[in-house]
Amino acid sequence: MCGIIGAVSTRNITDILLEGLRQLEYRGYDSAGIAVINNQNNLQLIRKLGKVNILAEAVKHNSLHGGTGVAHTRWATHGNLTEINAHPHISSNIIVVHNGIIENFQSLRQKLFKKGYTCVSDTDTEIIAHLVHFEQYQQGGKLEKIIKMIIPQLSGNYSIVIMDCLNPELLVAVRSGSPLIIGCGVGENFIASDQRALLQVTSRFIFLEDGDIAEITKTTIKIWNKIGQIVERPETLSKINNNEELYQKKNNFCHYMKKEIFEQPLVIKNTIESHINYGMITMAELGPDINILFSKIKHIKIIACGTSYHSAMVSRYWLEELAELPCDVEIASEFIYRQSIVQKNSLLITISQSGETADTLSALRLAKKMGYLGSLTICNIASSTIVRESDLVLITNAGIEIGVASTKTFTTQLTLLLIFVAYIVRLRKMNNILEKNIIEALANLPNRIEKILLLDNYIKKLAQAFINKEHALYLGRGTLYPIAMEGALKLKEISYIHAEAYAAGELKHGPLALVDETMPVIIIASNNKFLDKIKLNIEEVRIRGGQLYIFAEQNICLTKSNEMKIISLPNVEELVAPILFTIPMQMLAYHIALIKGTNVDQPRNLAKCVTVE
Ligand code: G6P
Repeated sequence: MCGIIGAVSTRNITDILLEGLRQLEYRGYDSAGIAVINNQNNLQLIRKLGKVNILAEAVKHNSLHGGTGVAHTRWATHGNLTEINAHPHISSNIIVVHNGIIENFQSLRQKLFKKGYTCVSDTDTEIIAHLVHFEQYQQGGKLEKIIKMIIPQLSGNYSIVIMDCLNPELLVAVRSGSPLIIGCGVGENFIASDQRALLQVTSRFIFLEDGDIAEITKTTIKIWNKIGQIVERPETLSKINNNEELYQKKNNFCHYMKKEIFEQPLVIKNTIESHINYGMITMAELGPDINILFSKIKHIKIIACGTSYHSAMVSRYWLEELAELPCDVEIASEFIYRQSIVQKNSLLITISQSGETADTLSALRLAKKMGYLGSLTICNIASSTIVRESDLVLITNAGIEIGVASTKTFTTQLTLLLIFVAYIVRLRKMNNILEKNIIEALANLPNRIEKILLLDNYIKKLAQAFINKEHALYLGRGTLYPIAMEGALKLKEISYIHAEAYAAGELKHGPLALVDETMPVIIIASNNKFLDKIKLNIEEVRIRGGQLYIFAEQNICLTKSNEMKIISLPNVEELVAPILFTIPMQMLAYHIALIKGTNVDQPRNLAKCVTVE
């Protein structure tokens, strides 16, 4: 959360910083700010509440100019959403942008107050600027040395970039928990929270590691590790290719989310094709020795957050039912703060769209010390921290996802997880037919999804009935229970309607009390072993007057009634049903949000990449 960009160049870097901020806006969009040092070493600073385009508009009217600068897009943690709390923060000649949290900022603030510093903002960031300024005033010396002195005083996870008007030839950056990447140019260098912000100027990157301090000038990059030794970090060429650029265009869609929903047949196909060779599943990217490791697995632990947690939940059903492997699934933020027991020969799997989620990353780091067989991540961003720190990596081929609410990254996670399960089943020689069935079911999936996408107008009409609703209930069973959870999460995220998901069997243990003629109840009905039980749930809701929205395979026979809307979906193999049923859940949430006029791609208070705890 929060996006940082900085540049040292001979050219005017204002537009580069603004374009970088646009690319980083998925990390937070409460406010944005830019600071550029001009040729006379004067600071030009503009901060604005709201989105980057508001800042860009203000910059246009103030003609900023200079070769050294930093910029920031904020997702607030300390201090209200106000202009004064927007970054960059300054203390005289010192300018700071920051991503993360300084946990002990209150006590530092008091100490600084005694030394004569009064904070004008409520942020934890401003104290960093004052600390640097104080030490510089007391000790003098190079900026990088001063920063090394103040780091032991800061606790928390953070990344910071610092600029000094008295020495505008350089930027100093610190990575301590939150990601920072140096972009290498010719006669100019850059730094940002992620590569995307810098692809406009370079494709050569250096990934800072935790504890690193970097001093960046136009022509030099010096890095010290956490014990103060000068280190060489490898320069890598960006793996983000031209296809990724395609994913960044909205084309004719009015929202990225809609475009990403409609891209699912393609990206699911891509994910399948990259793992099937001559009619068999391949995990070639895991290396030649993978079967030795996989054959030792007796248990799987999956850790994730948000939507990724829901794909973990679905895969538990698959792993236990199909591969007969015991599996536990846990939310990362719970895992990191409890004493858990590692099962014998357990493989750790993390699932993360971004590969930067702070809780999932902490869980991975903790788990690596706990004695798991190894760590596998399922991720959409090949250059992310979680990918770099995992032993084994499976990449979903979803392309960049820009809408904050995950759609295509979720269904490609599910696709890849099913492929992984089929591979494990083959390895354990349990069932030769299953791999064939899974490949066949997956091959048919993109076409079936296309058919669901044709229901767009119909779902749009249904959505009308939700606009004055404050609550909704989602019900599903088996692998479709996590899909009900995902449907409810989508509705909450983008339409701000409170939605709860229940395993349908739990209906009479509480949520039925909420059902009356005003309550929409969304039920996922598949032609599986639960069908009769789901029909009972439908009846329980119907006789209490609940407004039923039943998403059902077309071969299911349901007794219709006035209170009931049946959304008929293509028949689907049970194995891939969770992937298929996700699509109408996304479409429903999208259309409700659209009618309500919320910001679909950037819902309030949320961010795509949660790099703080
Ligand atoms: C945020 C996003 C969600 C996402 C979750 C986990 O909350 O808004 O869409 O599911 O983070 O993110 P990850 O990148 O780890 O999948």
